[in-house]
Amino acid sequence: MARQRRDEDRLPPLFALVHPGLESVAADEITRDLGGMVRKTDRGVVIFRVPVLDESVLLLRTVEDVFLFAWGTDALTYRAVDLKSIQEWTESEVDWREMVRLHHMVHRKPKGRGTYRLVTQMIGEHVYRRMDAGKAMAKGLGGKLPPGWVPASENAGFEVWLNIRGSTAFCGVRLSERTMRHRAYKTEHMPASLRPSLAAAMVRLAGATPGQIVLDPMCGAGTLLAEQIELAKLRREGRITTWGGDLEPNALRAAVTNLQKVGPTPLAQWDATRLPLPSAAVDRVISNPPFGKQLSTPEEIGPLYQKMIRESNRVLKPGGKAVYLVSEPELLRSAIEPYGWYPERMLKVRILGQPAMIGVWQKPFA
Ligand SMILES: C[S@@+](CC[C@H](N)C(=O)[O-])C[C@H]1O[C@@H](n2cnc3c(N)ncnc32)[C@H](O)[C@@H]1O
Repeated sequence: MARQRRDEDRLPPLFALVHPGLESVAADEITRDLGGMVRKTDRGVVIFRVPVLDESVLLLRTVEDVFLFAWGTDALTYRAVDLKSIQEWTESEVDWREMVRLHHMVHRKPKGRGTYRLVTQMIGEHVYRRMDAGKAMAKGLGGKLPPGWVPASENAGFEVWLNIRGSTAFCGVRLSERTMRHRAYKTEHMPASLRPSLAAAMVRLAGATPGQIVLDPMCGAGTLLAEQIELAKLRREGRITTWGGDLEPNALRAAVTNLQKVGPTPLAQWDATRLPLPSAAVDRVISNPPFGKQLSTPEEIGPLYQKMIRESNRVLKPGGKAVYLVSEPELLRSAIEPYGWYPERMLKVRILGQPAMIGVWQKPFA
């Protein structure tokens, strides 16, 4: 216990990059599932501390990447003077030897020659280019990494990222790997398939408990169902039954392939507006129907929502919950109105550049 406290004092904060709009869901996962303490959230970023640093940070599902915090600022000026600051902060504000040691607490020290990679992401109208900011960071890092380490363009053992968004910048050492955002199960994709971290957030919002039945009536490549099964496995509290289906045979084929790596899920080709399921059969419906601009026309989407909600209301148990990600929240709201579902939570997100809404709804008990 004493050692844990010492570690906590010495550990730098971590930060997670998150799909903008889902910071509160990621913060909940960090607090409840990881035992972390959230210090600050900003758009697309959650800064937190953990009592002990180990591989458990890699189990987070609602975030896209996790980093050791090196330095951060919200006072970039957009002018060339920022480049000097980036170099200085990188050079003098970070104990890079300690960063390397902490990185090895999550990833075993590689055999052979160490490799590193510097990554810069930049959003906003700065007078300097992304490349210039990257060079400033590289200058600041000069001579700080272990001698003999060589740069690598892919699969580097140690990655330092500089993330600039307007006047805010974060520099950190990446702890996560590609598989955090691109799950190993997801080998088959559909054009409108969800990012797994977003699907994981919807699953958390639905809050199904062991023994319950979760339905995705428009499952596409099966991302929501896979995330539900994986979350239940991770929590080891008991099985949650998942059912899914889709109108399109191609989508079903993708879902079958993806889900066979995750766990058993009955899948069917069906029309979500006329489900072959008994009434009051499921505890949760989690779904993202086609986006008006992507898969259907805006004129078709309202009537589709209406028929889909009528059917979901029939199969959902009293007190059951539904989580929908939609591009036309007002049309969904009017489809739900006749059934008196209670709106529990609404989260604004952007999907492929378009505004969208995740809504959590509860069907009345009686
Ligand atoms: C946005 S995609 C779902 C993506 C899925 N969540 C994923 O991550 O892959 C919408 C899906 O709804 C399906 N769909 C559209 N109308 C349907 C209907 N009436 N019944 C069942 N599925 C339908 C489409 O075939 C498509 O696969």
